[in-house]
Amino acid sequence: MAVSTRTSLALTRRPRRLRRTEAIRALVRETRLTPDCFIYPLFICAGEGVRREIGSMPGVFQLSVDEAIKEAAAAKGDGVPAVILFGLPETKDPEGSAAYDPDAPVQTAVRALKREVRDLLVMTDVCLCEYTSHGHCGIVEGDEIVNDLTVDQLVRAALSHAVAGADVVAPSDMMDGRVGAIRKTLDERGFDRTAIMSYAAKYCSGFYGPFREAAESTPQFGDRRSHQMDPGNVAEALREVEIDIEEGADIVLVKPALPYLDVLAKVKEHFGYPTAAYHVSGEYSMLKAAAQRGWLDEPRVMMESLIGIRRAGADMIITYYAREAARAL
Ligand code: PBG
Repeated sequence: MAVSTRTSLALTRRPRRLRRTEAIRALVRETRLTPDCFIYPLFICAGEGVRREIGSMPGVFQLSVDEAIKEAAAAKGDGVPAVILFGLPETKDPEGSAAYDPDAPVQTAVRALKREVRDLLVMTDVCLCEYTSHGHCGIVEGDEIVNDLTVDQLVRAALSHAVAGADVVAPSDMMDGRVGAIRKTLDERGFDRTAIMSYAAKYCSGFYGPFREAAESTPQFGDRRSHQMDPGNVAEALREVEIDIEEGADIVLVKPALPYLDVLAKVKEHFGYPTAAYHVSGEYSMLKAAAQRGWLDEPRVMMESLIGIRRAGADMIITYYAREAARAL
């Protein structure tokens, strides 16, 4: 018989045995994706019945509060436990004061979501860039983003989110000392149960481009290099994470995700702390664009991207794919 005449290598190890069937592959799979590790970003605008698609992010919308309730309830129905809110204020000024207006879209949405969508975890992004007329993440003097004055504004914003009922506030500005300042004020005001997820290692990235269209937060001049991290650095990321943990962060976040998987892995390994990754707008848009042209198989590359982020060390992932991925699982 042909079989017996085949030459057979005297191998003691044949790793392919564990890849023969889906059943055995599932048994030895080291990393799993489940819908409960996803956080779904929502862009909240004023008005009613508004559902405006973002050109560079197909499937992602600016939503008025009533529409956001529907979207969050649907996400919850898909198994996604958490949302993170970004705001599009009606007015902007140099100090970004709409960031702590109790009646602004984010604060209104927090109250509505906590009231209307049972057991939904509500997180809020805390930054000034969506609220300042110049689009910078802080108070600008000359060509400088002034750290400590900015932190005062961020504290006001975070407090207003906590008052509205946010479960988690997530400062994304990269100012020094903001985590400690937010923690102190929240505790003094009786919000000791409100958690802080700090964007601890946030890089100065071109992959935020589509987000800035979605959040209408493109800086009118200059860039974000004086506060966001240089893409070449990793030891600095560990220092940033260490500082934020010392200041009281409950969860630390690395952003973007795929170009910084080494950073994510080191952060998780080094601190063993609850760690999040942000699969950002540009990472989503490039998969969408290639998929629309038929160049990539979207369901596959979506899952492969997300599992890669998990494997590198993320406990949770902020992703615009949250609903699609949850439904596919
Ligand atoms: C700042 C913020 C940004 C993102 C999240 N929070 C933009 C920036 O720093 O310019 C980007 C998220 C994404 O690209 O999906 N509020």
